[in-house]
Amino acid sequence: MKRSDLDVLIDAATLQKRIAELGVEISRDYADRDLALIGILKGSFVFLSDLSRALSVECTIDFLGLSSYGHRTTTSGVVQITSDLTAPIEGRDVLVVEDIIDTGLTMRYLLENLATRKPRSIKVCTLLHKPARTQVAVPIDYTGFTIEDHFVIGYGLDYADRFRNVPYIGRKR
Ligand code: IMP
Ligand code: MG
Repeated sequence: MKRSDLDVLIDAATLQKRIAELGVEISRDYADRDLALIGILKGSFVFLSDLSRALSVECTIDFLGLSSYGHRTTTSGVVQITSDLTAPIEGRDVLVVEDIIDTGLTMRYLLENLATRKPRSIKVCTLLHKPARTQVAVPIDYTGFTIEDHFVIGYGLDYADRFRNVPYIGRKR
């Protein structure tokens, strides 16, 4: 696949405009909180980078690496942590930052895992949501864009681990 095989679904300016809005909303909600942003690797690194700079509140930033190896073909939702957080989240106000919520299986696993670490609160912010593919409902507190059932690429999302650096959300033609 080449970059020229992508149609633009959400362009860079539209992404930035929506992220600015999310930043205002999250900054308002976390004004008196102890915000711990947790980006899910690898896909969320571009979104987290822009979202964190759209916030006017202080926060820490940490990452959790997940491998969803095998889960696309099963309904088990078995996900492996490939790289753990570097600091405890006990007593903190966690905001999980994801690139996309598709079946919801990854997020369900993640929320169960993070809850055992006793944060004060946990909320979810996803750039994209594909409701047509939901297998398990997970609470989503902040959504950038709700999209149709397309496989999307770019702005952190990959196709065979490539095209994460494409600056817009594209769709394979
Ligand atoms: P879920 O467990 O099915 O919700 O899958 C979530 C993960 O699958 C995301 O974090 C992505 O890594 C990957 N994924 C789901 N849909 C897409 C897509 O359209 N493009 C790229 N990756 C996707
Ligand atoms: Mg991902």
